[in-house]
Amino acid sequence: MLIFGIETSCDETACAIVKDGREVISNVVASQIKTHQAFGGVVPEVAAREHLDAINVVIEETFAQSGIKPSEIDAFASTAGPGLVGCLLVGLNAAKTLSLVYNKPYIPVNHLKAHVCANFIDTDLKPPFTCLLVSGGHTQIINVSDYGKSEIAASTIDDATGEVYDKVARLLGLSYPGGIQLDKLAQNGNREAFKLPEAKVGEDEFSFSGLKTAVLRLTQRFKNEQMPVNDICASFQETITSTLIKKTVKIAQKNNSKTIVLAGGVAANSRLREKLFELQKPENGSYQVFAPKMKYCTDNAAMVASAAFFNPMKVENPLELEVFSRG
Ligand code: KG4
Ligand code: ZN
Repeated sequence: MLIFGIETSCDETACAIVKDGREVISNVVASQIKTHQAFGGVVPEVAAREHLDAINVVIEETFAQSGIKPSEIDAFASTAGPGLVGCLLVGLNAAKTLSLVYNKPYIPVNHLKAHVCANFIDTDLKPPFTCLLVSGGHTQIINVSDYGKSEIAASTIDDATGEVYDKVARLLGLSYPGGIQLDKLAQNGNREAFKLPEAKVGEDEFSFSGLKTAVLRLTQRFKNEQMPVNDICASFQETITSTLIKKTVKIAQKNNSKTIVLAGGVAANSRLREKLFELQKPENGSYQVFAPKMKYCTDNAAMVASAAFFNPMKVENPLELEVFSRG
């Protein structure tokens, strides 16, 4: 089954063609990072207009790279939410239009489920598994018992992981989007330079506001001196990745799960991936672990097409479905 996926929930205009949920035929991403850099974050109205400018070009490029004709596609899918409403509307209307023109089904997809499904691409991963989903808007541990069947076992009570990365990066004077830059500097720093706090919250909760404040205090301490940016990045990264992995392992143990997977933009983080792969060692529990390829961690449409195959939204009349901002 060939599915054409569209992703426009935030600041990437992306399309992809994926066969049977696992094999990517073509994958195109047009990023708006340069536009939003001047504002230090995504400006929703500007993002929506950029999607409008880019969408037709990205659709055409995706078909051109695949060698597949639109009439050969079995279904058209798009992210219906959560995300920025004006942005989501562009992708949803493009997918619905293609579905009407070529007389093939329209399949709506939940963005978070799509991030999880990025793990099915080019792998033989099968449920059950425990997934740590860490993106710019969400932090959750999800027990996936079957395709299309999952339960949230833990979530954040304040900031999302990617959001904390971006805010801490801004405190350190790094440019938007800060997560990836912070990760790079952390690789040249001393992880043990500063002891930062891990929140004492319930097993099913994450809280990062204390950690964020601790980094703020630290930066204030160095006001008139050279700030050891790399060491602060490394210490922050060590603390947050350690919290994330510890909680995920605890929930996997509780759920008798021997497979742990990562998902979301922060799944691209070097230290988080390193810690995940350490879980394969016998002394760490001999877990089977999966993380999406780097290009499928941050927003892309291959994961949307995969989710349309493995975990579509169940709605009576998809062509009448509207976008949603939260979920
Ligand atoms: O999943 P995503 O592309 O968009 C949302 O659905 O939110 O995630 C974007 C987030 C941003 O906060 C970005 O800073 C973060 O993922 N991110 C990273 C890295 N690459 C992207 N955070 C830490 N380390 C990275 N290497
Ligand atoms: Zn995302």
